[in-house]
Amino acid sequence: MSILVTGGCGFIGSHTVVELLSIGEDIVILDNLSNSKECVLDRIETITGKRPKFYKADLLDIDECEKVFKENDIESVIHFAGFKAVGESVAKPMMYYHNNITGTLNLCALMSKYGAKTIVFSSSATVYGMPKSVPISEDFPLSTTNPYGETKLMIERILSDICVSDKEYGVSVLRYFNPIGAHESGLIGEDPKGIPNNLLPYVSRVAAGIYEHLSVFGDDYDTPDGTGVRDYIHVVDLAKAHLCALDYARKNKGIDYFNVGTGNGYSVLEIVKAYEEASGKPVKYKISPRRPGDIAECYANPEKAYKLLGWKAEKGIEDMCRDLARWQEGNPEGYPDN
Ligand code: WQD
Repeated sequence: MSILVTGGCGFIGSHTVVELLSIGEDIVILDNLSNSKECVLDRIETITGKRPKFYKADLLDIDECEKVFKENDIESVIHFAGFKAVGESVAKPMMYYHNNITGTLNLCALMSKYGAKTIVFSSSATVYGMPKSVPISEDFPLSTTNPYGETKLMIERILSDICVSDKEYGVSVLRYFNPIGAHESGLIGEDPKGIPNNLLPYVSRVAAGIYEHLSVFGDDYDTPDGTGVRDYIHVVDLAKAHLCALDYARKNKGIDYFNVGTGNGYSVLEIVKAYEEASGKPVKYKISPRRPGDIAECYANPEKAYKLLGWKAEKGIEDMCRDLARWQEGNPEGYPDN
């Protein structure tokens, strides 16, 4: 019996595969390498001593993907594969809806055909849109402000409707807050294509001298220092949440939703300071205008994951920055092209 990890060569996927292999799970990765590199498999093997079975395939090619189910006894799925850049989704909505929704529908069709009825889905706090208050709980209103977020919400609803139609399904939906950091080995980490949209990959590159300064998008928010506050969570804590969520979905039919955050908010300037201390390098910044669509504060109420999954974040902002600095130091250009 194997676990299929779609997008398993990606940032969160690879860290989750490492944790799954470390507890003896049998893993099959399906990844089209559109936002990842095959050398990640070598890094996973170096860390764990095990090399997961790998299929380079696109979820939009259902015949190719069916080989995975024909050739392996897939018991459950952890579904990471999907495009995830907010700005790009606004510019290319059709590409996002086709890739993320059609790809997921193909995956669900194969799961039903082959009787794999347990899935953990990689969702996002973006489904809460502009929350009225913080901390955010799972019963907060859902709304989205961009096509990327809409695809996440649509997939949540597709999975919910599948559970209504077939009571044998067990589905855990994980709503990530802001995943950052890297594995303590420094061998796997975040490797965004092009200029990073997100804060920490940009900060780490400023400290490394790749970029001249960080643009702080607004210092006039209603927050302690005026800059945006987010719930940053160590990617290894997030990876471990998937193991707890899989266990829960195996034991509980139906669908349930979990915020995966620390419950603590840090501002942009607090992150800059923490990264400078962790890396021993300065991070130059300039205050810039607000980024359209940004909200002042966003952090989780993580209680439900603790109560039902028995999971809570263990690593602090210092660990996140230290591990990211080690990854950046050892991989200044990210993963090498094969
Ligand atoms: C964090 C803070 C920015 C870059 C996004 C997606 C979300 C999820 C996580 C996928 C904000 C500020 C950032 C920079 C800055 N992705 N910032 N200068 O926007 O909270 O969430 O990534 O699921 O869907 O929306 O993360 O890292 O982009 O921004 O000042 O160069 O850093 O304004 O306050 P965000 P982020």
